[in-house]
Amino acid sequence: MCGIVGYVGGKQAGPILLEGLRRLEYRGYDSAGLAVISPEGRLSTVKEAGKLSQLEAVLQEGMPPGTCGIAHTRWATHGAPNRLNAHPHWSRDRDIALIHNGIIENADVLRAKLSDLGYTFETETDTETVVHLIDEAFRENDTLDDAMLAALEQVEGAYGIAVVSSRDPDKIVVARRGSPLLIGIGKNGENLIGSDASAVIQHTKDVVYLDDGDCTVLTAEGYRVFHMEQGEVQRSVQKIEWDLEAAEKGGYEHFMLKEISEQPESLRNVMRGRLLEETGDARLGGITLSDEELAKIRRIIITACGTSWHAALIGEYMLEELAGIPVEVEYASEFRYRSPVLEEGTLVLAISQSGETADTLAALEEARARGASTMGIVNVVGSSIARKTDFGIYLHAGPEIGVASTKAFTSQIVALALFTLYLGRRRSLSILQGRELVAALQKLPDQVAETLELGPVTRELAAEYGDAQNFLYLGRGYQFPVALEGALKLKEVSYIHAEGYPAAEMKHGPIALIDENMPVVALAPRDSVYSKIVSNIEEVAARSGRILAVVSGDAPELIGKADHVIQVPQTVPALLPVLTTIPLQLLAYYAAIYRERDVDQPRNLAKSVTVE
Ligand code: G6P
Repeated sequence: MCGIVGYVGGKQAGPILLEGLRRLEYRGYDSAGLAVISPEGRLSTVKEAGKLSQLEAVLQEGMPPGTCGIAHTRWATHGAPNRLNAHPHWSRDRDIALIHNGIIENADVLRAKLSDLGYTFETETDTETVVHLIDEAFRENDTLDDAMLAALEQVEGAYGIAVVSSRDPDKIVVARRGSPLLIGIGKNGENLIGSDASAVIQHTKDVVYLDDGDCTVLTAEGYRVFHMEQGEVQRSVQKIEWDLEAAEKGGYEHFMLKEISEQPESLRNVMRGRLLEETGDARLGGITLSDEELAKIRRIIITACGTSWHAALIGEYMLEELAGIPVEVEYASEFRYRSPVLEEGTLVLAISQSGETADTLAALEEARARGASTMGIVNVVGSSIARKTDFGIYLHAGPEIGVASTKAFTSQIVALALFTLYLGRRRSLSILQGRELVAALQKLPDQVAETLELGPVTRELAAEYGDAQNFLYLGRGYQFPVALEGALKLKEVSYIHAEGYPAAEMKHGPIALIDENMPVVALAPRDSVYSKIVSNIEEVAARSGRILAVVSGDAPELIGKADHVIQVPQTVPALLPVLTTIPLQLLAYYAAIYRERDVDQPRNLAKSVTVE
């Protein structure tokens, strides 16, 4: 949510910033802008409402010259997504420019105070207050760093900010509290900042993740990190583990389709080196608890948002069935604001692709404050959730750029299966059951590749049903969360209204909606509730609903009942969600294409929601 990039070095900053914005546009795309300090020491700012292409069109007529600058792509929180509210924001003499990701919670108080001091406000944003505060602080401070620090003492809320000023040129000053930021360490007298690694990957793989409370002063020659309370600190340099190509479309029309297609590989990556065939177990280096400590876990609360929450529900079914441990799943946004009872022996597991979702992060902090031990299942290495949890499992799925999560979801399910194996084998899961799960996991990437061949079929279905106003997705047991995820995917990218429902609950309400205009996606793979879902399908057929059944293997019972049968390979029930999800991802993708939607940048959504 909101992308930040900055460059200081020997090259022209403008094209580098624009390139960074292109890679960050998935974080927010309602306006964009940049600020560059010219060789004569003048600060130029260009910004435009709308997608990045609007800004690019303006910059084609002339890129401001200079070798030090910052740029931003916005997802609006305070103030409409228009040109004025776009970042950077500048000081009244236009000699300081600032970009910000997050929310300034005491903006109203600051506005009133600054107004009394004679400042006028050009925008509706909370961010503008900070640039005026820095301007004011410059009266008593000689450097931009000191002025920013003095200003931030008055600021409450969450921020990742970057500032440049013609009063103290050739440097970028940065601060982080609650919103992700990293330094990209360039090789030839240049340095960068970014809100995530994709902003800097073209220039360097060496990065320093900033902690909350960290500030940094970045020049062409180097950087210094100091913590607001602790003073100068050393932060370790880490290597980004993926290549530039991973953040590019690589011949696909959209990131979403690329990421759907990458799933055989992303699943191999989450399992690599982690399966123990012989003992039917998992090797999880990131779980640093001893077996005695593990034995003390009596209950798990999984907390997450969006698609990750759906993976959490699948994890609940798996962990309870195979590891015999009580599990509850909580929306992070709810968990954080009630008073959860976390008795001794509770493990709080946060699942997040980005590792930066504000609500999930806050839920985790709440859990820590109440003394629970915490675990993360996270994709982005070095992200806040990864660093704030006691231990965890990385997905290694590579960057996920399509706003609708696809490959991260299936990797989360597999990571949960690995954790289930690990915990289960230290509890009630027998070696034979363990081996069966390991064998099924080993086959999964090839089965996913086979399932991806459903592309043309789902494309035809999308064209046949793409004009529908509503869709219903039904599933039971492990397939109920898949129904929720299928409906969410369709909503997110095609804007067709869709609901996911536990199939048996249909008769308590949604059945009233069923007629010949209602496509019903029924998840009916061969598992312990197969015969039950077949009965639910009959209930829909009796009311003339149009049925798209997703089955595993043959399903003779559905001949004459379902309008369409989509077949995926057979596997153990706990892993069937990975396979049944794939046609639903494809259906959502092709429905969006059919309806000419912007698949990778659906309206109003953002990839990483760093505000509550
Ligand atoms: C946003 C994204 C979803 C994602 C959710 C949770 O809403 O659009 O795709 O599932 O955030 O994100 P996380 O990074 O915590 O998994």
